[in-house]
Formats: sequence, C-alpha cells, structure tokens
Amino acid sequence: MDPIKNPFSPGAGTPPPELAGRQTILDKAHIMFGRLKAARSEKSFLLIGLRGVGKTVLLNEIHHLAEKEGYKSIFVEAHENKSLAALILPPLRQLLFQLDRMANVSEKVKRSFRVLKSFLNGIKLKVKDVEIYLDIDSEAGTADSGDLESDLPALLEVIAEAAQDRKLAVAIIIDELQYLSEQEMSALIMSFHRIAQKMLPLALVGAGLPQLVGLTGRSKSYAERLFDFPRIGPLDMPDMIAAIRSPTESQGVKITDEALDEIALQTQGYPYFLQEWGYQAWNIAEKSPIDIADIKKATKESIRRLDESFFRVRFDRLTPREKEYLYALAILGEGAQRSGDIAEKLQVSPQAVAPIRNNLIKKGMIYSPAHGDTDFTVPLFGDFMKRMMKKGQVYP
Ligand SMILES: Nc1ncnc2c1ncn2[C@@H]1O[C@H](COP(=O)(O)OP(=O)(O)O)[C@@H](O)[C@H]1O
Ligand SMILES: [Mg+2]
Repeated sequence: MDPIKNPFSPGAGTPPPELAGRQTILDKAHIMFGRLKAARSEKSFLLIGLRGVGKTVLLNEIHHLAEKEGYKSIFVEAHENKSLAALILPPLRQLLFQLDRMANVSEKVKRSFRVLKSFLNGIKLKVKDVEIYLDIDSEAGTADSGDLESDLPALLEVIAEAAQDRKLAVAIIIDELQYLSEQEMSALIMSFHRIAQKMLPLALVGAGLPQLVGLTGRSKSYAERLFDFPRIGPLDMPDMIAAIRSPTESQGVKITDEALDEIALQTQGYPYFLQEWGYQAWNIAEKSPIDIADIKKATKESIRRLDESFFRVRFDRLTPREKEYLYALAILGEGAQRSGDIAEKLQVSPQAVAPIRNNLIKKGMIYSPAHGDTDFTVPLFGDFMKRMMKKGQVYP
C-alpha cells in the first residue's frame, strides 16, 4: 500500500489513528474535571502501566480535555536527573502570568507570585538547575523553608486559591512519575492532601511505570486513599481489532480475520506493537485485503525495527552486569520471577545482586510486582534479551 497513506503511528507519545479501549479512563477524567470545578471532592488519579501501553498518549488526551473544560493546565515529564521543583516552577510561573493577564487585579494572584518567589528563595541553594527570574518581592515565611515537603504544599495551595479567585480550575499533569524521589513524591502527595481537604480546584493526573505504586505507598501510606491507580494494559481482542481495522478501513483497505489473529498473537495486544505491526503490514501488502502472508513478513520487519529502536535504546543504557541480570530473568521464562531464582541463575547470593537489581528498577527496566518478584517493565523484552544473547551482545 501507499506508504504516504499509512495510518499507523508507532512512536513514543504519538497519537494513534484510533485510540482503542480507553473510554473508561477518558470518562473518569471528564467526571473528575467537572466535579473539581464545581467544588465537589474527587480523587486525582495516576495511570500505571508498562512501557508502550499508551500512558503518554492518554495524558495528552486528558490534557486536551482539561483545556476544553476551561482548565488552565501544565504538562511536564519527570526525569531521572532533574528535580521536581526545577521541572514545575517554570510552567507554574507561566500559569500565574496567564491568571494575572485576566481583567482586574487579583490580590490572590499577586500573592501567588510572591510565594513562588519565596519558594524559589527557599530551594535555591539546593536546586542549581532552576533558572527563572521574578522581578517581585517574596512573601517571607511562606513556602521558603527550603523543605520541599512543607514548601510545595504551601505553594500549590496559594496557586489553587488564586485560580479559585479567578473562578478557574488548574490541572497538573506529570508523566514518568516513577522518576521522582521519595521526598518529592511525599511533597506532591501532601500537597494534594491539603488541596483535597480544602476542596480547591486543582487536579493532578499522572502516569508512571508499575513501581510508582510502591513509591507512593512508601512516601505516604495514606496515598492509596488519596489517589486512584487505574491500570493501563494491553488491549483485549475487540479493542485490538478496532485499533487495526478501523484505521485500515478508513483508507479503503481491508484486512482478513486471519491476519488480525496473527497480529494479536505477535503483539499480545500491546499498543506500541500494534502500531508497529500495522505500520509494517500496510507497507508490505501489495493489495487489499491485507492477509496472513503479509503479517508474517511484517513480523520479521517489525522485530528488526524494534530491536534497532524501542528495545535498543534501553539496552544501550545498561552496564554489562545489568545485561547479565536481565538475561537471567529472560531465560527463567515468561512473567515475574523470584529474585532468588535470578541470583541462583547468576550463581551469586541475592544480596550480591541487590544493587544491580535496584539500579535496574531506578532505570525503569524492571519492577517488583509483588515482594521478592521481578519482571520487565518493557513487554517482550525477555525475547529481545535472548536475541541479543544469540548475537553475542550480552556476554562480551
Ligand atoms: N489505545 C491505543 N490504541 C492503539 N494504539 C495506541 C493506544 N495507545 C497508545 N497507542 C500507540 O502506542 C504507542 C505508545 O504509546 P505511549 O503513549 O508512548 O506509551 P507509554 O507512554 O505507555 O510508553 C504509540 O505509538 C501510540 O500511538
Ligand atoms: Mg510514555
């Protein structure tokens, strides 16, 4: 088929031609935005899922929804090497300028600026990567202790009050939340605890890898009552079919049931892989309908491409010992494995590999689905590790 007309879009955060199977989450966001705006209490939520299931795409969609519902919003992506304060201060400042630009002076908005400045003064010594300038006086005594866990709640509260004063609501959307430190997570949770108690119009929507659940629990045990953690997983068969068939048919091309079954088998319903297989199948097929022979060829090409990009970028960030650890996890079989069994495969004690395991969790490569268990955060990564072994890329 004509590659120019190819509807599929494999990539990080690239909107799919058909956002299949996520209506419940979008409805949930719609209800939350509506309720918070009307000063009714509603839990914020954090999307939990493996790499490539569509969390970022959903956050983008929710961001649009927020704007459509009249929210002022900020969208940031957490990083391994950047502090939360450095990340959210510039967009918060931007947001305050937006509130300030509206007609008539608001004392609450003015105060927010002063408190933002105090916050900056407080953390300045610790956060060298914050580069914002505010040509105003600070408000001494508010949000300037230098302790994030008391300053962030104070700052967000003042901002939420300013928004309320403007008869507006604010949404803070944060991707890759698993990269926050425990202290940052704790500060964030305490902020939303206070905001929920005061029923202020500030919503948090986040997303992260499965280790985010443990991180929130360790940071503050009441987090599970404060937030919902909807699981974002692979698509079921009807949604998979919708994800592939409707974009294809909207271009006037058909696809056989057999071909769809084969895509389902190969991708296991993971959205990233669905896009990849759809993309390759489209380019390979010479005529409508796309059939199973096309999919078999697409499988070869898709795996080659994934090995060069999606999997490869993660593999390249690993040390030799981390690669060995992941290979041991891979050969133990599908799904979660006992950490003790992995150590045994490596012929060392669990204590000896604990630092490697911890680093792999920090890098977002593995997580612990239950105490003592370990699994990949990237679907089908185990098969990739086995291919890398065959190519002599695991053990030098
Ligand atoms: N509901 C969905 N249906 C079909 N494809 C999807 C869906 N959600 C995401 N995708 C596709 O999956 C890929 C990965 O999405 P992304 O949001 O980056 O995942 P994550 O943030 O969870 O790693 C993208 O190519 C996107 O187009
Ligand atoms: Mg993402």
